Amino acid sequence: MKSVETIDFGIVVKEQRKQMSLSLSHLSSKLQVTKGYLSRLESGKAAPSATMVKKLAGLLKLDSTKLGILAGYLPSDVEKILYANPVEAPTVLREAFGEYGNYRERTTNKNEQERVGSTKYKALYELVHRDCFQWLEERKSNSIQAIVTDPPYGLKEYTATEKAKLRNSNGGVWRIPPKLDGYERQPLPRFTVLNQEDKSKLKRFFFDWAQKVFRVLVPGGHIFIATNPLLSHLVYDVIERSGFEKRGEIIRLVQTLRGGDRPKNAHHEFSDVSVMPRSCWEPWGLFRKPCEGRVQDNLRKWKTGGLRRISKDQPFCDVIKSSPTRTSEREIAAHPSLKPQAFMRQIVRASLPLGEGTILDPFMGAGSTIAAACAVGYKSIGIESDPEFYRIAIKAIPRLTTFSDNGKNVSSGFSEIESQEELFVLR
Ligand SMILES: C[S@@+](CC[C@H](N)C(=O)[O-])C[C@H]1O[C@@H](n2cnc3c(N)ncnc32)[C@H](O)[C@@H]1O
Repeated sequence: MKSVETIDFGIVVKEQRKQMSLSLSHLSSKLQVTKGYLSRLESGKAAPSATMVKKLAGLLKLDSTKLGILAGYLPSDVEKILYANPVEAPTVLREAFGEYGNYRERTTNKNEQERVGSTKYKALYELVHRDCFQWLEERKSNSIQAIVTDPPYGLKEYTATEKAKLRNSNGGVWRIPPKLDGYERQPLPRFTVLNQEDKSKLKRFFFDWAQKVFRVLVPGGHIFIATNPLLSHLVYDVIERSGFEKRGEIIRLVQTLRGGDRPKNAHHEFSDVSVMPRSCWEPWGLFRKPCEGRVQDNLRKWKTGGLRRISKDQPFCDVIKSSPTRTSEREIAAHPSLKPQAFMRQIVRASLPLGEGTILDPFMGAGSTIAAACAVGYKSIGIESDPEFYRIAIKAIPRLTTFSDNGKNVSSGFSEIESQEELFVLR
């Protein structure tokens, strides 16, 4: 039997059919379907039923479970194993299906590449191209177990006008830093330009958002929300006023290029002065919808209420050493606010105390939360309103999921958990 090297159902079927020297007509008549339907299956334009997968696997002498997974059917026993072993899950999947990246390098067909981008971990995530406020309104109440998100802040920075300026390298609310030592640097949104009216708008935006989120989160469900030291107090206040309890703050220790500058146009005169401190950390607000009864009762009923420990001996800690998102990740997902997998996998993993449930990222961007969820074996839903970022996410998520850098164990998120351990032991 030919070993299954690619992740795509249609391609595996087509390659195996050719290997067995079966024509389209021959195989379609054996399957009792039309040639056109079989051709659509092979090109990924039609989704096979579970019965069709079994028939195809039998006729093509392929493993029906593997073929089923490629078609998006995850057997319940496999699902259970993946949930029970979230850290090992990506490796197990990779070993079973081969590296997703190998396939991308082999294929030059753009449509195939786009389609393949959504296939491998299909059973674990759902992507929605929509305004998250509308989506939240329609979503069933008590149906999401955690939210991990990095929302827009200036609110201005993701308006059509500001996005056009960013895409044309034209400034606006986006500060395009000059090249440093010949390297292009990432644009940063300028939060200092927000006036009182912008701040009131921001509060209304998050108040509205938090109320909608409150309804869809189950009791005991946590929100991890990325923010920044200039605006976090505004956001935290309205999230609390929507009914959530503040449960702390995660400090992502990261050296950024914000702050630390001398007074504009007076650098020489005030060479020993910085207008603001150079920012070396990023706050992530941590909130919880109140539990029903005690934490243990809530854990039993809703599978939420606490945070997943790193190990039996090691609780999840609120300071995480990190680094700016690596260029290799940015090349996979060109989004100005892309968060690094090594950090995201740690907070995503912590967000489901029993590893059960679905995580939502309502401001998905290029999908770093969704990729992190796949990497630790959690189900997730990502929502993005911008069509270009949505397209980027479709392609980027499978590649970010399997991302590891220079042999560092980024895929399980443990490279930086070791540094959490250091912090924990030192205290
Ligand atoms: C800060 S970025 C998130 C980037 C993400 N953390 C990543 O790693 O790619 C916020 C995203 O929210 C999207 N967005 C803004 N308003 C939205 C809305 N109402 N519904 C859904 N997405 C929205 C923006 O287009 C932007 O891509």
